[in-house]
Amino acid sequence: MKILFAASEAVPFVKTGGLADVIGSLPKELAGQGLDVRVILPKYEDIPARFTEQMETIATFTVRMGWRQQYCGILKLVHEGIPFYFIDNEMYYRRKGCYGYGDDAERFAFYCLAVLEALPHIGFMPDVIHCHDWQAGMIPVLYRVHYSWRDDYAELKTMMTVHNLKYQGVFGQEQFRDFFSLGDEHFGGYALEFSGGASFMKGGLLYSDLITTVSPTYAEEIQTPYYGEHMDGLLRSQKDRLYGIVNGIDYNELNPLTDPHLEVNYSDSADLKRRNKVKLQERLGLPVNRNAPMIALVTRLVDQKGFPLIERVIEELLSLDAQWVILGTGEPRYEQLFRWAADRFPAKLSANITFDEALARQIYAGSDLFLMPSQFEPCGIGQLIAMRYLSVPIVRETGGLKDTVFAYNEATGKGTGFSFAHYNAHDMLHTVERAVRLYNDPVVWKRLWANILAQDFSWRQSAEQYAALYEQLAYFPAAGDR
Ligand code: GLC
Repeated sequence: MKILFAASEAVPFVKTGGLADVIGSLPKELAGQGLDVRVILPKYEDIPARFTEQMETIATFTVRMGWRQQYCGILKLVHEGIPFYFIDNEMYYRRKGCYGYGDDAERFAFYCLAVLEALPHIGFMPDVIHCHDWQAGMIPVLYRVHYSWRDDYAELKTMMTVHNLKYQGVFGQEQFRDFFSLGDEHFGGYALEFSGGASFMKGGLLYSDLITTVSPTYAEEIQTPYYGEHMDGLLRSQKDRLYGIVNGIDYNELNPLTDPHLEVNYSDSADLKRRNKVKLQERLGLPVNRNAPMIALVTRLVDQKGFPLIERVIEELLSLDAQWVILGTGEPRYEQLFRWAADRFPAKLSANITFDEALARQIYAGSDLFLMPSQFEPCGIGQLIAMRYLSVPIVRETGGLKDTVFAYNEATGKGTGFSFAHYNAHDMLHTVERAVRLYNDPVVWKRLWANILAQDFSWRQSAEQYAALYEQLAYFPAAGDR
């Protein structure tokens, strides 16, 4: 089975969010299960030189965008056994970061066109192009309209995975007409049209053969108005081909027993874990106290992650008998909030408004609790890493958080974390208070750890589910025959 992942970011090349973690790790597990998986990305300027220096140009051709012909180079690099292809066009991608430019519509239109055009040139005709998020969303559309009738492309199938429905790639229709050479029939309400413009994401949802999202609960939620981002009606109409598969994490890379960033490696020793906490307190300038519960947040500082709730009760949170550490960047409003709070409560909070992978690992290892009060969360990866490092998650019951963290029940001793249902600051506060109280009960904490250690958040099971869907796709009739 040959699979091509089309996505806009992947660890270790470029990362703005959890999508990059998935694209950097799932292919390895699928390859381990015997699939031929390759990945195709834009060649951004930010990709470190240690990778670009090893890349080899394997093809150059032109891509037709409306009436223009644009240069396209394809570079290749095999990383940890996975072939990665990089689409090279300096006008589009030789810039800082991945997104946020005025011509993003054109940059990712080019990406989608180039992926399809590249296949014969790179000598890899996949059984499935697995498209991730809006940046790859026009690939299924272009395939159906312009390629499915070609003999060499006839057997191809497409799958669309939604990592976050909030980002939809909505632009003016005239751009879609121009870049993709599409006629009027593709712009109705049952096609690309979306709130007056047109949407890459909607294209991917409607023209792909199968749709998945990154947890079963999010798959249900996005069929409702609250989570549906105005696409809930469309998703309800497609629910028979919409699946939810929870993300995993790379268990080799993320392992407290071997992680080179830690002060002391550990598997299930409370004592060794506490030595990491002490080291972290020293590094961050917090009072050294091996018994103080340390609560961590490692995340982008954006509304989605629940910062409006934290903002609402920040003084109450910082008055608890606990220490706090935050790592991440994001909206200036929240960056300011944490700078202010660290100033006002220097013995309680360490605010690290940056991103640093080594510090992130030390925080997972040094913390006792990990807070994720998201308003919505397609899957969430932080809580999985936290559990791998035995930092007990406190989450809101939404999306993948609901599917991966089970509320601790004192009566039965079951559960792997703490959770609250409503998106409400005081419900969150009370849940944090309860977690801090139970932290002081060693019997409870031992149970929680034992329950967490019994879970498996590696990619193994989820990769099997993806493989089963690819198999299923192989039996779909070719697009040209439908
Ligand atoms: C997005 C979602 C996050 C998910 C990640 C990878 O970043 O917000 O919940 O874990 O994609 O699928």
